[in-house]
Amino acid sequence: MSQTAQALDPARRAAIAPFIAMDVKREATLLEQGGAGIVHMEVGEPSAPPPRRVREAAIAALAGQPVGYTDALGLTSLRERIARHYREAYGQDVDPQRVAVTTGSSGGFIMAFLALFDAGARVAIQNPGYPAYRNIFGALGLEAVDLPVDSSNGFAVTAAAVEKADDAQKLDGLLLMSPANPTGAMQSAESLREIAETCARRGIRFISDEIYHGLTYDRPAQTALAFSDRAVVVNSFSKYYCMTGWRIGWLVVPSELTRTVERLQQSLAIAPPTLSQIAAQAAFESIEELEAVKDGYRRNREILLNGLPGLGLDELAPADGAFYLYADVSRFTDDSTRFCHDLLHRAGIAATPGVDFDPVLGHRAMRLSYAGAEAGMVEALRRLKGFLRK
Ligand SMILES: Cc1ncc(COP(=O)(O)O)c(C=O)c1O
Repeated sequence: MSQTAQALDPARRAAIAPFIAMDVKREATLLEQGGAGIVHMEVGEPSAPPPRRVREAAIAALAGQPVGYTDALGLTSLRERIARHYREAYGQDVDPQRVAVTTGSSGGFIMAFLALFDAGARVAIQNPGYPAYRNIFGALGLEAVDLPVDSSNGFAVTAAAVEKADDAQKLDGLLLMSPANPTGAMQSAESLREIAETCARRGIRFISDEIYHGLTYDRPAQTALAFSDRAVVVNSFSKYYCMTGWRIGWLVVPSELTRTVERLQQSLAIAPPTLSQIAAQAAFESIEELEAVKDGYRRNREILLNGLPGLGLDELAPADGAFYLYADVSRFTDDSTRFCHDLLHRAGIAATPGVDFDPVLGHRAMRLSYAGAEAGMVEALRRLKGFLRK
């Protein structure tokens, strides 16, 4: 019996946009495999290895007992260590029972969004913002509501903007990051308090993405838990702790949601990666090493902030934290995709076009990550100079 081969149409929910930074990374890797020398500024990824204690803990674990599943919510010792981190870093008491270890913060988003929102829920996000928010919402049937941030509001969200969006059409949730990607902008502690209070008053579920905490250059970031015990906090070992590939992060949820997240994680992930959990415990004991890595970002940031304006890239978002510079490139192009393509192929600099972060004005912006090595920043400036002159 012959059967006609038919193309399989993907489900409608899978029709989400690509994460362009990851597409650029793939393209840059291909060029590198062909022998090109690429300066990687496309993905927010530390070039430093994880701290020594982290690597040693993983090696010791491998040499020991089998690496089996842990409890769905993670190792008790890691959950306790994460809870202690809130006392040490922010002076906040967090019950370890409220901590769920996840497969990166990306795994945490899925658990948090499923735990908090039914299909059709409207969730406000910063625009420009982290591309995966919008894409995960698409796959889960949630609606993204844009809160525009730009130079007129210091790239920060205000409680008034949240109220305005909620008045226009009821919001179910707010997902806020500070420091933010791609801008680096930070919310003040006062604005975070006002936003948390607004959300509590209006019944808007508040999720705070704190993945760039630790990576601030002038003032420390405050956790949303200082202002609300109803907030859901998302965090990760990827950025400050230099553990992107270990795929390990965590959530802090209100205690009544712990069991919900546990049930979700049992079936969607079984448990977060065991080896990474064992190793991650040592990350909190590696602050000196991690601060030295951050000093490198600080130097990279200075090099670019000093060098870019002279090349005509003088409109930059605040860069209070994280390791990104978000530059207006409208002097050179109104097609940031083409611009970044040419930058990669002609100058060997991998950068992410603004359209990844902002569907409205991203065609006139570009994001550069300065999480790489200092020599890469100097080389990027040299190559940019030649490229922009043409
Ligand atoms: C704002 C923000 N949240 C979450 C993530 C995801 O990180 P991970 O899944 O590695 O924890 C990223 C990665 O770039 C990010 O920029």
